[in-house]
Amino acid sequence: MRNIVLTGFMGTGKSSVGEKLAKKLGYRYFDLDCLITDEAGMTISEIFEQHGETRFREIESSVIERISAMGNLVISTGGGAVIRDRNREMLRSSGVMVNLKASVDEIFARLRSDVSRPLLKDDMSLEKIGMMLREREPFYAEADIRIDTTGKKVDDVVREILLHLEGTV
Ligand code: S3P
Repeated sequence: MRNIVLTGFMGTGKSSVGEKLAKKLGYRYFDLDCLITDEAGMTISEIFEQHGETRFREIESSVIERISAMGNLVISTGGGAVIRDRNREMLRSSGVMVNLKASVDEIFARLRSDVSRPLLKDDMSLEKIGMMLREREPFYAEADIRIDTTGKKVDDVVREILLHLEGTV
């Protein structure tokens, strides 16, 4: 059976939605960032600080390669997992890509007091989030299904995804 792969910017709700979606479908749930943390034996922030973003992306790609070969999973990806072409190819070939979106204002409100996102550590601003979103939009847009989560509860987003998936899983 194919996987359900959740993509989307930081703060769009991939982890909370992914966990509930997996329960509803009876699939196993994997959070890419957690697998990366396990593999590296340190937090995402520590990987960025001690080894840099390039090393983080290498571990991210190797974890994607490993889980893309498995089935019956709901996978939450990190916001930047879609940047590398090869990652997108592997994820796409493993199942259905579901992109979660949210407005810049909502993302900012959800993340502003969060210190666990190294890429926003030095500049947590609407401008920075807007710029990164614009850069990544073409990659997020490649998803099979796109859901706007702005102002919605997790359960409503899960229900919406299930409606879209009907007949495909
Ligand atoms: C990143 C998003 C993070 C994490 C890392 C890099 C990104 O995951 O993978 O900090 O490049 O957008 P979340 O989207 O789960 O916050």
